[in-house]
Amino acid sequence: MQILLVTGGAGFIGSNFVRYLLRTYPTYRVVVLDALTYAGNLANLADLEGQNRFEFVHGNICDRTVVEPLVRRVDGIVNFAAETHVDRSILDAGAFIETDVKGTYILLETARQCGVERYVQISTDEVYGSVPVGVSTETDPLVPRSPYAASKAGAELLVRAYVVTYGLPAVITRGSNTIGPYQYPEKAVPLFITNALEDKPLPLYGDGKAVRDYLYVEDHCAGIDVVLHHGMPGDAYNIGAGNEINGIDLATRILDLVGKPQSLKQFVIDRPGHDRRYALDCTRLQALGWRPRHSFEDALAKTVAWYRSHESWWRTIKEQQAAYRDYYRQQYELRSQSTGE
Ligand code: NAD
Ligand code: TYD
Repeated sequence: MQILLVTGGAGFIGSNFVRYLLRTYPTYRVVVLDALTYAGNLANLADLEGQNRFEFVHGNICDRTVVEPLVRRVDGIVNFAAETHVDRSILDAGAFIETDVKGTYILLETARQCGVERYVQISTDEVYGSVPVGVSTETDPLVPRSPYAASKAGAELLVRAYVVTYGLPAVITRGSNTIGPYQYPEKAVPLFITNALEDKPLPLYGDGKAVRDYLYVEDHCAGIDVVLHHGMPGDAYNIGAGNEINGIDLATRILDLVGKPQSLKQFVIDRPGHDRRYALDCTRLQALGWRPRHSFEDALAKTVAWYRSHESWWRTIKEQQAAYRDYYRQQYELRSQSTGE
């Protein structure tokens, strides 16, 4: 493979992955297709501007007239493009069905017609649903519980159908909660870090005891790279770090790292259908040689350091982007009646 189409490459993980690919494979060329939704940001790729192995195309994965000419000239596709925030999917699921399901269909259909060597669908551990005990393996049933998770599971089922029906050489990754540079500040970790830096409350949903496994973005990218090059067509691969932590402990550590008082923790009304825990068995990917390289402490410290030193990146979003401000007001004014915890 020499030229890859990375959809959603102006978002958080996609932009880190593009940088990872260009650095790791000095002969590869990358074309990013991104619709630049509220979560897409050209600033995430600013350092690559002008590089002759990198090209940016502004467009929607649901638009076949944009997708087809691009797919014709690439060897493989890595699909990051998605609506990604659970809370937004609860407010309005429409865009999730459109991009995550229909957009994936358009990419798959074009990929099979043009005959790509490789298609990678970036999915999530959320497709397994809430896992109160034990760990999810790739053969477990998909039991999504939020509109976001359901749209990602729907996309996965389409991918599987294209492998079985048309022999499309497609693979799927299911990553856990990812943290690191360039994550849009609506997700828990960047929201907590930037709120702490601004002396604002850190809103903890419900009892604050829901558990997530936090993975550093470089480790997620390395896992996707292994699956891109060595994954078995038709298979899914879990990518997790085994760093289980609940919301309260996460907020405690962030406040310690930022140097702000623990009193900034604020319990707010819970997310409807809040998944209590996700946890992954990553034996299948480990068998291909992958291991996460960052401890949780290291990953969180690096992430806090990045947000500290890139204040203008997140302040531009939080202060100037209407899509952020409107969402924040709607989401947190509703929730901020303290639960009294
Ligand atoms: P993000 O929200 O930061 O970025 C999504 C990108 O997709 C944005 O640049 C956006 O402009 C683009 N996009 C949205 N709709 C589009 C469309 N119709 N056409 C073209 N581009 C479009 O997301 P992220 O956190 O980087 O997640 C990337 C992928 O990884 C997603 O598929 C997500 O489901 C998956 N994932 C994320 C995490 C996580 O913790 N962030 C964990 C596991 C899996
Ligand atoms: P989030 O980053 O939205 O990811 P997920 O897709 O796993 O829900 O949330 C991570 C965890 O943090 C999840 O248990 C919900 C919780 N959370 C809060 O307690 N407060 C918040 O303001 C947000 C955004 C999330």
